[in-house]
Amino acid sequence: MLKAAIFDAYGTLLDVNSATRRLVQSDRYPKLAAHEAQLSAIWRTKQLHYSWLRALMGAYVPFWQCTSDALDYALADTGLDGDSALRDDLLALYRKIDAYDDAKRLLQDSTDVPTAILSNGNHDMLRDATHSAGIDSYLDKILSVEDVGIFKPSRDVYQLGCDAFGVKPDEVLFFSSNGWDIAGARHFGYRTIWVNRTGQTQEVLGDGPHHIVSDLDEASQLARDFLKM
Ligand code: LAC
Repeated sequence: MLKAAIFDAYGTLLDVNSATRRLVQSDRYPKLAAHEAQLSAIWRTKQLHYSWLRALMGAYVPFWQCTSDALDYALADTGLDGDSALRDDLLALYRKIDAYDDAKRLLQDSTDVPTAILSNGNHDMLRDATHSAGIDSYLDKILSVEDVGIFKPSRDVYQLGCDAFGVKPDEVLFFSSNGWDIAGARHFGYRTIWVNRTGQTQEVLGDGPHHIVSDLDEASQLARDFLKM
């Protein structure tokens, strides 16, 4: 019996490439266009690496710090460092990152069970992003790793979802586009839907996801079928 629907934030509901894309579209930094894909990919990859490394080091900092440190690495690696206005603009746009359209549709329709975000993001960055994207009013709770001082895929993080709703792990339906997050959530005991937006290869990291969809519209149909069971 499903009692809660819990969503990863960055990459699943929120488009992590939208900050760089919006700045390229503004044409404020002409040299950025040639590096858009590379900068965005390195920024995201390093952001995650820093979260995992800091968790192993026992050196937690808010995810916003991982995000800005990763941007500094990505700017240096692409030769775009040294322009503090570019850095400031990218961080300001990340704060108001876009939600995917299918995320808005799914959250609007999810009225049968309580919903939450469960994210590496610290509370204030999640508050800013969900508010500017207009999805905060559809969520019952916004859960952050900040409350346990470690990052996904620590079991302590997935436990936050159970504690928030007073439910058992297998009563949670968990949605993430991050395959490694799905692996952690499944290992913890959640029922998992991997939202494989970009056709990525499945992680070889324990049991695979219970279900795989290509976007949240497909996930929405699947979730409806579950609720009828
Ligand atoms: C999050 C990371 C995984 O939102 O993007 O938790």
